[in-house]
Amino acid sequence: MPELLDQIRAIVGEKNILSGDQLSGRSAGYWRGGDLQALALVRPATTEEVSRILVLCNEASQSVVAVGGATGLAEAHQTDETEIALSLERMTAIEPVDIGSRTITVEAGAILQNVQEAAAEENLMFGLDLGARASCTIGGTIATNAGGNRVIRYGMMRDLTLGVEAVLADGTIVSSMSGFLKNNTGYDIRQMFVGAEGTLGVITKAVLRLHEAPSSMGTALLCIPSWDALLKVLRKLDRAMGGGLVAFEALWRDFYEFNTSEHAEADKPLETETDYYVILETFEFGDDPDSSRLEDLLGTLIEDELVIDGLITKSEDERRRIWDIRESFEAETKLYDGSMSYDISLPQSDMENYTNRLKQAIAIRWPDGIVYTYGHVGDGNLHYSIVNIDWNAHEAVDGVVYELLKDYGGSISAEHGIGLEKKQWLGISRSEAEMNIMRGIKKTLDPKGILNPGKLFDMND
Ligand code: LAC
Ligand code: ZN
Repeated sequence: MPELLDQIRAIVGEKNILSGDQLSGRSAGYWRGGDLQALALVRPATTEEVSRILVLCNEASQSVVAVGGATGLAEAHQTDETEIALSLERMTAIEPVDIGSRTITVEAGAILQNVQEAAAEENLMFGLDLGARASCTIGGTIATNAGGNRVIRYGMMRDLTLGVEAVLADGTIVSSMSGFLKNNTGYDIRQMFVGAEGTLGVITKAVLRLHEAPSSMGTALLCIPSWDALLKVLRKLDRAMGGGLVAFEALWRDFYEFNTSEHAEADKPLETETDYYVILETFEFGDDPDSSRLEDLLGTLIEDELVIDGLITKSEDERRRIWDIRESFEAETKLYDGSMSYDISLPQSDMENYTNRLKQAIAIRWPDGIVYTYGHVGDGNLHYSIVNIDWNAHEAVDGVVYELLKDYGGSISAEHGIGLEKKQWLGISRSEAEMNIMRGIKKTLDPKGILNPGKLFDMND
């Protein structure tokens, strides 16, 4: 192995291959923490370097895990001390926006927020937004088909990725970078890498779709008395905003209370106690935006008793503080030694019922367990943070969550992928015929199984 590392060192240079003690202090990921475990962390500067590294690794049957911002929940980026972690943190170039085609071409190590800002400078916007915007990479968001807060309007990464350049296990560089909105020329190679969690190739570059920037934006926090009312509010706003409702995030009372408690970073902007809170965002477009529309709508919703209290933010600072209630997990990571996080899809009309049944099932087996509930309700996606249960019970808790989900035909992963964390449950959401196709593709593109091995599924299951 030292020989392989020496060969890689010759490609990337001494500074860009780290191992042993040099890895201490380098986090393995946002959710589980701890130091990165790897045979070495390698930081190539170009696609050609990635290709040369993979040629060597393939010859040596050396496992390689592409690592982005490591903010995913499913452990798709996890490495052990036998694996090479390949980080594209030096490949962060963002090309000038192509205004005519409304696209931007970026290297895979570019940070999401920097891409958003580059688009905004040209009065355009990149539609993906999520809490980890300041640390997640474009390569990681493509590899996991990330979603986030604006899927209801702009779709997931799959919908925003118009081109991909990737390096296969044998070093072949595949450039599927046409960037056209319409391109019906056979199998969609670019889409194959989206959501593949680094098992089919290392994504090095992408063409991303941009949209018109809004001319104004509204953010509101609403207190809603029942699930039925919450779904009505969603429908009414979606209709009234004519496509301008871009985020609709629900927080159950437990989550709102906890994330505005003395343990949390965010303060409590509304004292009103109710079962559900919603953070929503609206965009207005064009030269003559209706700046009072959201306020008028809120007034009507209060008159109709669908909303019992609410506020519309008046400044960017206030807006940020509202989103902090939803996006900051300070309290959770501080107070609990490991939280079990879930990311499921199910019909909106079943969310209340499923959540109540889940809470009951958890309470019966783990009376001290606490289930915090929140999520991207507009997209049919809920998250649970289940805490105060011994980590050894993790698999048993997974079993409760996913077995119950079968009754609703839900998906075990809405936006974070499968990784290591969920692969034993994949059969709930994918048929044997689908699994066979996935294995066939993997075998064709990575016959030695060096790319992110053991993630998503096992070849021999
Ligand atoms: C969120 C992450 C957990 O929505 O997906 O906050
Ligand atoms: Zn989420």
